[in-house]
Amino acid sequence: MRRKLAAGNWKMNGTAADLAELNVLATLMPADAPEVIICPPAPLLYRASTVAQATPISIGAQDCHMQASGAFTGDISAAMIADTGAAYVIVGHSERREAHAERDRDIRKKAKAAWASNLAAIICIGETLEDREADNTLDIIAGQLAGSLPTAVTAANTIIAYEPIWAIGTGKVPTLDQIAEVHDFIRSKLAIRYGADIADMIPLLYGGSVKPDNAALIFEAGNVDGALVGGASLKATDFAPIISALAQS
Ligand code: 13P
Repeated sequence: MRRKLAAGNWKMNGTAADLAELNVLATLMPADAPEVIICPPAPLLYRASTVAQATPISIGAQDCHMQASGAFTGDISAAMIADTGAAYVIVGHSERREAHAERDRDIRKKAKAAWASNLAAIICIGETLEDREADNTLDIIAGQLAGSLPTAVTAANTIIAYEPIWAIGTGKVPTLDQIAEVHDFIRSKLAIRYGADIADMIPLLYGGSVKPDNAALIFEAGNVDGALVGGASLKATDFAPIISALAQS
């Protein structure tokens, strides 16, 4: 059985006071909850990991540098993230691809850096509205998969998040058929490159305007093993119903 995952990406939101949401979330989560990961901003990672220790919640970072150390002012390495107690790192989020000009090959290196520090990588891919309207979605996805994924992908070290850029923070959600089409396509590409056994076990998350009121429907789509949630992960009262919907899917 493939594992289910609900990951919350806090983006540039939250200070120490907001870590109380982790305790609230733990009390609201169903007993049979899937794996839950919260990715707070880097300055909160250590404290979040400490708070999360008493809960079933895991902690992840939102980005890491591709190098192990060096003169990279403002950046953080995968080893530093692991040192906080975090177990995951998001790489290749579209906001980093766009605002920090990250390319597929950078993301591939970041995923490898994550693995070298025993972090699992949540590798993000997704098309722009322009790509979608030009009917280029699957080509873009194929290119991002080929470029962003290293050769040593396993179901233990990698989670893939499909986040159509036009659905992020917009309230616009693809149809169930559109989500299923891309997720089926991703799984088939993974099978060609890594073999069916590995491909079948890699969790595929959908991200982009997942909310308490649409989560159950999204989780009905084929090959959707969970969600990467932005805005609705900030408050435990919003994230908990999404986790419950995943548990029931
Ligand atoms: P929203 O859920 O706010 O649309 O953000 C999705 C996202 O980018 C998660 O990484």
